[in-house]
Amino acid sequence: MLIDTYGRMATDLRVSLTDRCNLRCTYCMPEEGLQWLAKPDLLTDDEIVRMVRIAVTDLGVTDVRFTGGEPLLRPGLVGIVERCAALDPRPRLSLTTNGIGLSRTADALSAAGLDRVNVSLDTLRPEVFRTLTRRNRHADVLAGLAAAAAAGLTPLKVNTVLMRGVNDEEAPDLLRWAVGHGYELRFIEQMPLDAQHGWQRADMVTADEILAALRTRFDLTAEGETVRGSAPAERWLVNGGPARVGVIGSVTRPFCRACDRTRLTADGQVRNCLFAREESDLRGPLRSGASDAEVAALWRAAMWGKKAGSGLDDPAFLQPDRPMSAIGG
Ligand code: 5AD
Ligand code: SF4
Repeated sequence: MLIDTYGRMATDLRVSLTDRCNLRCTYCMPEEGLQWLAKPDLLTDDEIVRMVRIAVTDLGVTDVRFTGGEPLLRPGLVGIVERCAALDPRPRLSLTTNGIGLSRTADALSAAGLDRVNVSLDTLRPEVFRTLTRRNRHADVLAGLAAAAAAGLTPLKVNTVLMRGVNDEEAPDLLRWAVGHGYELRFIEQMPLDAQHGWQRADMVTADEILAALRTRFDLTAEGETVRGSAPAERWLVNGGPARVGVIGSVTRPFCRACDRTRLTADGQVRNCLFAREESDLRGPLRSGASDAEVAALWRAAMWGKKAGSGLDDPAFLQPDRPMSAIGG
């Protein structure tokens, strides 16, 4: 099991398959992109499947989410999903994607054993999408969402980051749209994980603000204290349900005490927290002949040292060196 000194158990593994992306969301990376990881540094498909196998057979991981960068840019994605779905015990498999290209791959991913997808979409307006992501691909994302729903990759969740003065007026419109399509919308507070280190607390649209904006048009009722569990989203029933909306207050309503995450970067580093400044290298041991038991022991040690919280509220908080796009959401 992956436990830490605070008694938390990590059962949810996030695997970043690439740090590359075909969008340039302003809250994530600069216009010119980043210095991408070199191919030889990336875990191979075989190495990824081996790591996932160790996680589910030796370490108690039950849920595996593939992230990026943009995971659909990984050529071997469908094969990786298929091989992970064949593991015993079979983990639940999901994907966080920007949706571009999903219209072409949703069926194959579903057939390979993918259970669900989360698609990131911040706006209903193509011109705002272009401002936010610096690319003119709004229609591709909508097509990807429709294809994912048709392929049964449900419940389909949509992740939205609100940026002040850009798309922050859209919260109620986005919710109406999501409810109409049967997608579960989740607003994520903007976190200090951008490569440019431009995040400012005062600019962030807070969970309280988002809820207040939604309540101008919808009746939101709490799902109950117990429902949040380890899930970062606080969920609300929209107009009595069954539609729901989630608000992930990573900054103002941290959920660290219930965190059940462990993360593997595309270059084979275990991170015990999104905000950790330390990582543990598993690629080196993997490539120098470590046994499954040895890799598992290193992974356990990496998680044991997990800190109590993100440290975001500490004035001395320092952003991790690795940006969000190279960690995975
Ligand atoms: N703050 C909050 N969410 C972010 N995402 C990317 N960068 C940030 C950030 N700085 C979101 C993406 C995607 C998910 C992986 O995380 O929009 O939905
Ligand atoms: Fe790409 Fe996601 Fe970063 Fe946007 S937030 S640039 S979609 S990795």
